[in-house]
Amino acid sequence: MKIKSLTKHFGAEIIGIDISSALDNDAFNKISNAFYKYSVLLFRDQNLSEEKHVAFTQRFGPLISITESVPSVSSDPNNVNHWLIRFSNVDENGSIIPPDSKEMIGMFNANALWHSDGSFKKNPDKGSVLYAEQIPPEKGETELASLRAAYSDLPNHRKIELEGLMAEHSFAHSRRNFDLDEAAKSIIDKYPPAEHPLVRTIPETGEKSLFVASHASHVIGWPLDKGENFINELMEFSTQKRFRYSHQWNPGDLLMWDNRCCLHRGKPWDSGKYKRVMRRTTLMGQAE
Ligand code: OGA
Ligand code: MN
Repeated sequence: MKIKSLTKHFGAEIIGIDISSALDNDAFNKISNAFYKYSVLLFRDQNLSEEKHVAFTQRFGPLISITESVPSVSSDPNNVNHWLIRFSNVDENGSIIPPDSKEMIGMFNANALWHSDGSFKKNPDKGSVLYAEQIPPEKGETELASLRAAYSDLPNHRKIELEGLMAEHSFAHSRRNFDLDEAAKSIIDKYPPAEHPLVRTIPETGEKSLFVASHASHVIGWPLDKGENFINELMEFSTQKRFRYSHQWNPGDLLMWDNRCCLHRGKPWDSGKYKRVMRRTTLMGQAE
């Protein structure tokens, strides 16, 4: 197994490992340590069934059930659908779903914002593990930004200012300018706004990270517009090109990221012409 870093600040490709095989503890520990060290891991050329996708993710800890946000999927934990969320523009018959349908517009617009999965929840998601089944011949990249690198690069006076500050995160905020479908509305009803520190400490490494995202609206105890401007400024700072990695997908790629210290967003592609089929498992996180 070889570890090759992807950018100066974060991200690594793990080479020479088949993650669908039964990994011994030594191999798994190397991968797990690399995950906390690099925040983003890439495995190329994997042939990963849905079952193996779930099993690989479960080595890292408990998963989030998709029934949390899509109540209609199977409630049976032995059914893989219970654990997999799908981002796809293809319907059950294999046809492309019109890009101007409400469901597609919602997915494209929401995924295009720099976000941390589930930051609107009291216990935000720890990690996301995304596998590519079908990929358009061009575009449709996933971009990531390191909030840990951004934090470490902040001037000292900013770090002092940030100490002890909390931000409010809500699904309603990130969707405030969208025309919502029923599924999105029910998520708003289900999850009241959550408060999270603007600076988090990652327990596995002791490193500090900023924690801002599209769901973050304002700073607790500050006038609304002052907090909103502050968060916008921090988002702009964190998502500068120098803190980013852009992943150009190939089918069989698996990309996993630490939502506690990374932002990500999906870039557009010609979605009326090309299929893009992804599936994701999600690691359960804990409030800080
Ligand atoms: C996700 C996500 C963006 C993409 O899987 O959580 O935001 O590029 N994906 O598919
Ligand atoms: Mn996401």
